[in-house]
Amino acid sequence: MGMRDRILALMMQNQIGYLSGEQIAAECGISRAAVWKHIDQLKKLGCAIDAKPNCGYRLVSLPDSLDPTIVKTFDFSGLLKSDVVLKHFESVDSTNEVAKRFAAKGDKDKTVYIAEEQTAGRGRLDRSWTSKKGANLMFTILLRPTFRPQDASKVPIIAAVAVAQSLRNFTRLDAQVKWPNDVLIGTKKICGIRCEMAADFDRAEWLIVGIGVNVNQTVFPKELADKATSVRAESNRNTSRPQLLLSILSDFFDLYKKTFEEGGFDDVIVEYTKMSVLFQQMITIQAGGRETHGRCIGFDREGCLIMQNEQNRRVRIMAGDVSIRSEKTYV
Ligand code: BTN
Repeated sequence: MGMRDRILALMMQNQIGYLSGEQIAAECGISRAAVWKHIDQLKKLGCAIDAKPNCGYRLVSLPDSLDPTIVKTFDFSGLLKSDVVLKHFESVDSTNEVAKRFAAKGDKDKTVYIAEEQTAGRGRLDRSWTSKKGANLMFTILLRPTFRPQDASKVPIIAAVAVAQSLRNFTRLDAQVKWPNDVLIGTKKICGIRCEMAADFDRAEWLIVGIGVNVNQTVFPKELADKATSVRAESNRNTSRPQLLLSILSDFFDLYKKTFEEGGFDDVIVEYTKMSVLFQQMITIQAGGRETHGRCIGFDREGCLIMQNEQNRRVRIMAGDVSIRSEKTYV
């Protein structure tokens, strides 16, 4: 734990009273001048710290920041004490691109790249992803898979379940998944996931999971207004981004372990199906310039959608854009 993290942890434990510079200095084995420097840095991060002459310092509130120092203060389950590493950036082109660059430099499995802003955020099928600075979650998880590249299609499903589950538990919103890996509230999209992989036939060098969740954004560009939503727009409350981030990461790594170490992907598919907005609906799939119609009757172990087509045959769909036939909205 860095010194700044340690001082913040101390102040968190003593939020009722004041901690003198002398006490902090003695506890941390540093000078009072060094304490002052770290307190100043914490203030710059957005921590509200009351400094009272002859009394010392008192933490008044924490900012809604994704800086690892702040995120760690909410890490009650010890996720960040394991091998999960957070790297935080003010502004990047795309956290997926950042992850790829760091992957090439040898960054480890379970490194997470988080940005307050993306200038070239990317969605599935090379669409763009726009998100208001400092309001939402934009992050990418770097994985160094030990499983066969053929099993990689399970990862976006795991990510979608993790986000939907976290939104349900943490915000109480009725989040649903839309195959392959969108998360919706009602008919509007709240989260998108873009996975990319570098692999040869028998080994994946890296797999990255880019996740964008609309959290505290209230206004969306005109073209997205009837298609996109956020936690804030649905609940009328601001939500703590560091806490939601930790919840998603914790759910993701639990499901990842369950799938690849305990052979439990069938349970993940059961959860996915329960939360699916498409299950048992009449749908249209667009892929490769073609449209296919039928009923969604489930999802298989490879993460493919199973459709019963108009000729009553079961068809396995590996990729495509899906819409529910009777609706004119995003879904
Ligand atoms: C989609 O729905 O089309 C997928 C959107 C994925 C957006 C996230 S935001 C963090 C990461 N960085 C990116 O450039 N894209 C993903």
